[in-house]
Amino acid sequence: MSYYPSEVIDDIRSGNDIVDVIGEYVTLKRSGSSYVGLCPFHNEKTPSFHVNREGQFYHCFGCGAGGNVIGFIMEHENLSFGDAIKYLADRINYTLPEVAFTKDARQKRELKQKLYDIHKIAARFYYDCLMSDEGKNAVEYLDKREVSIGIRRKFGLGYAPISRGALYSKLKEAGFDDDSIVKSGLAYKRDANTFYDKFFNRLMFPIIDVYGNIIGFGGRILGDGQPKYLNSPETDIFNKSKNLYNLNLAKQAHKRELILVEGYMDAIAIYQAGFKNVVASLGTAFNENHSKVMKAYADSVILLFDSDEAGVKAVMRAIPVLKAAGLKIKVLQVTNAKDPDEFIKKFGAAAFGELLNSAKSHILFRAEQLQKQYNLDNLEEKIEFSKDIAKLMSEVDSSIEVDAYLREVSRLTQIDISAIRSEINKLSNGVQDIKAVASRRNTNKKGIDGAREDIINIVMANRRYYDIISRYLLPEELLDPFYIKILKIIYKLYEADKTVNTQSVLDCIETPEEQSKFTAIFVKRIKFNENEIIKAINDIVRSIKNAYYDKIISDNYTNPNISQLIESKRKANNLYISLSDG
Ligand code: CTP
Ligand code: MN
Repeated sequence: MSYYPSEVIDDIRSGNDIVDVIGEYVTLKRSGSSYVGLCPFHNEKTPSFHVNREGQFYHCFGCGAGGNVIGFIMEHENLSFGDAIKYLADRINYTLPEVAFTKDARQKRELKQKLYDIHKIAARFYYDCLMSDEGKNAVEYLDKREVSIGIRRKFGLGYAPISRGALYSKLKEAGFDDDSIVKSGLAYKRDANTFYDKFFNRLMFPIIDVYGNIIGFGGRILGDGQPKYLNSPETDIFNKSKNLYNLNLAKQAHKRELILVEGYMDAIAIYQAGFKNVVASLGTAFNENHSKVMKAYADSVILLFDSDEAGVKAVMRAIPVLKAAGLKIKVLQVTNAKDPDEFIKKFGAAAFGELLNSAKSHILFRAEQLQKQYNLDNLEEKIEFSKDIAKLMSEVDSSIEVDAYLREVSRLTQIDISAIRSEINKLSNGVQDIKAVASRRNTNKKGIDGAREDIINIVMANRRYYDIISRYLLPEELLDPFYIKILKIIYKLYEADKTVNTQSVLDCIETPEEQSKFTAIFVKRIKFNENEIIKAINDIVRSIKNAYYDKIISDNYTNPNISQLIESKRKANNLYISLSDG
């Protein structure tokens, strides 16, 4: 079907974890062994879209969509198989073997490559300018801001010279056409035969994507003046709402925790102080795409914003966005300094480390913000405050945590815990009702198809179960062509000593419809312990065989050998499989 060798497809698939990829499109919340969110393929208000990391598949109970990571990208981006492979290869910077491109795709790819090249040359140019005589003032400015020589190099800082066409000339010299240069956003056409650089006389911060490509620049004025920063416009390679400053270096810290700050200079100062897992949003409001990108590299985030009111506002806005992405959030306000950069200058790296450790849960931060809105000496306001706190607490899953927060809130406000708790109870009854209905709906699938799905689940779980079950159960006994096909595939894989998992089975299923039907089986992975499993296998095999013989007997009622069939059914009912049979 595809023109890539299967090893390439395997590389692409294993390099693109399905939870990370889908997490860039859908806000996923962990729920048991899978991740759940709102289905991107149909309109829904309650999440029925499941993504399973272990099995590397997704499935929607609402619309039935399902498959692996490649299928998801095909569906979601409306791409052919080949283009989905390219898309995913791009995502992990994987070089695909050459195959023929469509003209359109080739042109787009070529333009992007040109833009990357232009940015690389530009960054080199700005860096050289910083090192030259022209860059004297910029160097002085960096000295004043205590950015070390090593950090200047590490972040590729540079200087855009005063002359208004210096970069443009450099790029022309390097052979780039006007059209591409303009598309890079780094120069613009002023009149028929003059081109101006976007940046001049500014300290330059290259913006680098997670793959290490330079995709844009931020340019700071040296000293005071307006605008303080100029940034590259959005281009074919620069999307502000998807990129974070320093994520390329922050991800190398492998901490699964990111510090999120507002400014380029904050990120640089924090990095220089030895806390490498720091990122900054690029002068745009923090949004859903940012949080999804962060989720790929972190489980928790420390929000570290400036100590002013705008900082608090930014924190309050970012919390729900980060929360929706399933990130754990801590909040930190800089004290006795206007921003993290100044804090480090004043108090040093060690003090900053301590400050980081004092980051508190966003719940407490929000409780404090609520407290500021109410006058707690007034009884009515106190009641309203308690209600708000109760609502806030309903976001907390663990009752131990709720207790700890309540104690803290009560300490701060002198409000009796029991008053808040009774508000919480009122609220949580409502929540539990919804949960109960949802779980009833999920466990409803019983009957013979349920048994067929269970046996497929069990056979796949463990080779030992296969050894036993395959001796007693023929695929044909599942009656339904779909289940027969699946069980045959699984048996074959085991026989050939191949890996048996959802992925390897999915590879043997051709149609998307059947792929989704298959993935549906695993959304609720049943867990049996050793004592239960053997009883479960017996029950399930017996009910499958019963249904099989009932059907065969009724189809062959006039057959002279009917008594043999009835005898077989009787035997099947008395069958007892034990684990040591294998
Ligand atoms: N920003 C911007 N355009 C501006 C002002 C700010 O794009 N005119 C963005 C920049 O990304 C900047 C961030 O908002 O880094 C935070 O702004 P600010 O706190 O003013 O800048 P700092 O990075 O702290 O810069 P400095 O310490 O040099 O003032
Ligand atoms: Mn600053």
